[in-house]
Amino acid sequence: MTAVRPEPLGLLEGLASTRAIRRFRPDPIPEADLATILWHATRAPSGSNRQPTRFVVLRDGPAARAAKAALGRSFRAGWAEKAAAEQYGQGSGADPGSPKARQVIAMQRFVDRFEDIPAVVLACNLRHRAPHPTEGASVYPACQNLLLAARALGYGGVMTTWHGDVEDELRPLLGIPDDVGIAATIPLGRPEGSHGPVRRRPLAEVVFDDRWDEPAAWAVDPEGTRFAGGPRRHSR
Ligand SMILES: Cc1cc2nc3c(=O)[nH]c(=O)nc-3n(C[C@H](O)[C@H](O)[C@H](O)COP(=O)(O)O)c2cc1C
Repeated sequence: MTAVRPEPLGLLEGLASTRAIRRFRPDPIPEADLATILWHATRAPSGSNRQPTRFVVLRDGPAARAAKAALGRSFRAGWAEKAAAEQYGQGSGADPGSPKARQVIAMQRFVDRFEDIPAVVLACNLRHRAPHPTEGASVYPACQNLLLAARALGYGGVMTTWHGDVEDELRPLLGIPDDVGIAATIPLGRPEGSHGPVRRRPLAEVVFDDRWDEPAAWAVDPEGTRFAGGPRRHSR
């Protein structure tokens, strides 16, 4: 199989256009590419350079297949719960042509085909103290590095946390010790869709100057930036 190498991508361009990818081609990821992706993931910073992240890569070995089956169940339950709680099928979601309805289809397809995803990386946290509210903080930079490195090689993935329901099942299956937390589950593969500019809130909404809520006149989005909001948690 000849690997198709993407055009080299500038760092800032990669940051601005690495989307969450949930549709994958079935082709396995060559081991050399996995090694490159994981090497770059391990270049991420961590508190005191303690480097607590451990990566369990689930491909098609017997343990991986069993773990993917458990994860598939957990992802389907996780999505069902989120879709119901956030009423995805209602409002504009009831119109089959709406972006919300398309998102529902994409998410359902993602969870239904979870077992076929070529590589699923469990980003684990080798704890050095009792579970702690900020314990993921030294793992998540590595997760984002991993996604960006995958992107640079023409792959895509998505950061997820829907492993929680089957963590107790995964531990004995994969031999994950009790003092290791599973911080994230990252499916990876060649995207069926494409990457492209991500949409976020305008800078004016999220950057303050000098003190909370003071507008930062200099924080201007580049020309042509397209925006998306998210669930609102604060009054502004
Ligand atoms: C901490 C965190 C948890 C996430 N958990 C999930 C998840 O459980 N399932 C999922 O499908 N996506 C999950 N995502 C992916 C987000 O939905 C996605 O990154 C976000 O919507 C932005 O997508 P975009 O970059 O394509 O715009 C998670 C992302 C983060 C950073």
